[in-house]
Amino acid sequence: MKITITENEKAFANAAAWRIIGQILRKQRSVIGLSTGRTTGELHRTVAKIHKKYPFDVSEVTFFGQDEVVGVQREYFGSCWKMLKTELIDDIGTDDGHFLMLPVKSDDYSKDCKEFIEELESRGGIDLLIIGIGENGHIGFNQPGSAFGSGCRVSVMYPELEARIRRETGTPDNVELGGVTLGLKDVMTARKIVAVAKGTTKAEIVKRIVEGPVSEEVPASVLQLHPDCEFILDKDAASKLD
Ligand code: GLP
Repeated sequence: MKITITENEKAFANAAAWRIIGQILRKQRSVIGLSTGRTTGELHRTVAKIHKKYPFDVSEVTFFGQDEVVGVQREYFGSCWKMLKTELIDDIGTDDGHFLMLPVKSDDYSKDCKEFIEELESRGGIDLLIIGIGENGHIGFNQPGSAFGSGCRVSVMYPELEARIRRETGTPDNVELGGVTLGLKDVMTARKIVAVAKGTTKAEIVKRIVEGPVSEEVPASVLQLHPDCEFILDKDAASKLD
């Protein structure tokens, strides 16, 4: 794995943003997967800013989200759809046909998941996947213990996120919340992966992911087996690496 350690917040966002832009400049019909959360917001906004200043053609690029919360309104500001729309998609003018997301509500998630993966495949498969690393080593909603062979499905949230979403949306305990996510098997089909992490709270897990054994207890450790994976870290997230 390649590890890039950046000096500060701006360099971190720039490095990751240029991985996305570089992919688009190399291949206009790229299929690019994105993650949401605290780590990726600024890098998305950086892509949008660069696009505004130096316009490049994104009309044939397909963007998609690697995961989505289920059981909330899509317009809720914490849904992955809403975050990606406001951080990037609307600003660069990507239309609905080129922005694919798993649903927040459905009567048949397994059908939706199957169709989602088929749609990505029909567009040529995933060229680049940006992965935000969770504090417990999750990828998307693949929590510790997820099988490396797992496919796209509804999984559980990690407790901190679930508590926050319940608080922000007023969702009562008797209404189930979860996350629909690419499986680890789907993640590994990406031609190129860029995993991103910043802050001291990620330092310990980054060390386990990069230097520890490959284990389903640390889902992101599977990335050690990927032929083209780069980690972009800030100094804090990299602080425990040997
Ligand atoms: C959630 C999101 C993921 C994201 C991860 C890391 O699980 N659904 O897409 O990668 O959290 O979030 P953060 O960057 O806020 O730590």
